[in-house]
This record gives sequence, structure tokens and C-alpha cells, in this order.
Amino acid sequence: MPGAGGRMKSVRVAQARVSRPPAPGIRPLLAAAIAARAHAFAPYSKFQVGAAIEDAEGRIHTGCNVENATYGLTLCAERVAVFKAISEGVRKFRRVAVAADTDVLTPPCGACRQILWEFCGDVEIALVNLHGKTETYRLKDLFPKPFDGSYL
Ligand code: THU
Repeated sequence: MPGAGGRMKSVRVAQARVSRPPAPGIRPLLAAAIAARAHAFAPYSKFQVGAAIEDAEGRIHTGCNVENATYGLTLCAERVAVFKAISEGVRKFRRVAVAADTDVLTPPCGACRQILWEFCGDVEIALVNLHGKTETYRLKDLFPKPFDGSYL
């Protein structure tokens, strides 16, 4: 709750607990996410992100963030990668990589978690930075109580 001065009380949020060991064979996916990041259109935030999604056949689909002068129309790298793959008829995914240039590795935002859940379910999410630091999560750990089509 905002205090008298209008400042939010800082709340320590539990970070998704379980970083798992990197899965075997993940390196090409990490490299694809890092390469996709170079295409980021991020003139407003200057925060460049790349994403790569491996489908059930082992093909890799990539995306980068695409910003807009009206800020709110910005698309995150993860959603660009998912929508590219979906629009090409791909429906089964194995794992996702997200690359950004941060020491504390950048996780997918809330909107992207929802979209990833819709199309990928409880996939593996590998985070990486430009120094090769990686962490791996299951989407369920990052997004523990998803709303999905089962409620409708
Ligand atoms: N961004 C992503 O592309 N993915 C994320 O997971 C977090 C945020 C982008 C959106 C925006 O262009 C910039 O990073 C700053 O929020």
C-alpha cells in the first residue's frame, strides 16, 4: 500500500525458486536467442531482448522485441517468436530461450508467460546473458496458477 508520502512499501517477492541445470543440447537455442537480440527494435527503452523457441521437430523460431512510439504497442521478443512460429503452422514446442544483457537474467514478462502457457504449456525456459550465464526454469515455476482454456 502507498504510505503517507505516496511511496510504495517495498515488498520482497519470492523469485521463482528453482533454477535447474542447463538441459543437454540447449546451446544452439541459446545462441539463436542471442543472435535474434541483435535485431531488436528498441530505440525507446534501449533494452534489447532476443528469444528462440525450439519446436517438436527441433526447428528453431526466433524473435526480438519490437517497440513502438506509442509504447503500449510494443511486442516482446518471446511473443514475436511464438507468433512467428504459430503463423507458420507450428503447434508443438519443446523449449524457449530468452537473451538479454543483464547480470540478473531477464525472465519473460507476465504477458509473455501467459502467451507461452497458451501455446507451449509447461515448457523449459532457459535464460541467458551475453556472458553465457544461464538459468533454466519450467514455465510452471515462473507462472504457477495459469488461467487457460480449461476454465472456459
Ligand atoms: N521485453 C522483452 O522483449 N521481453 C521480456 O521478457 C521483457 C521485456 C522488452 C519489451 C520492451 O521493448 C523492453 O524489453 C523493455 O521493457
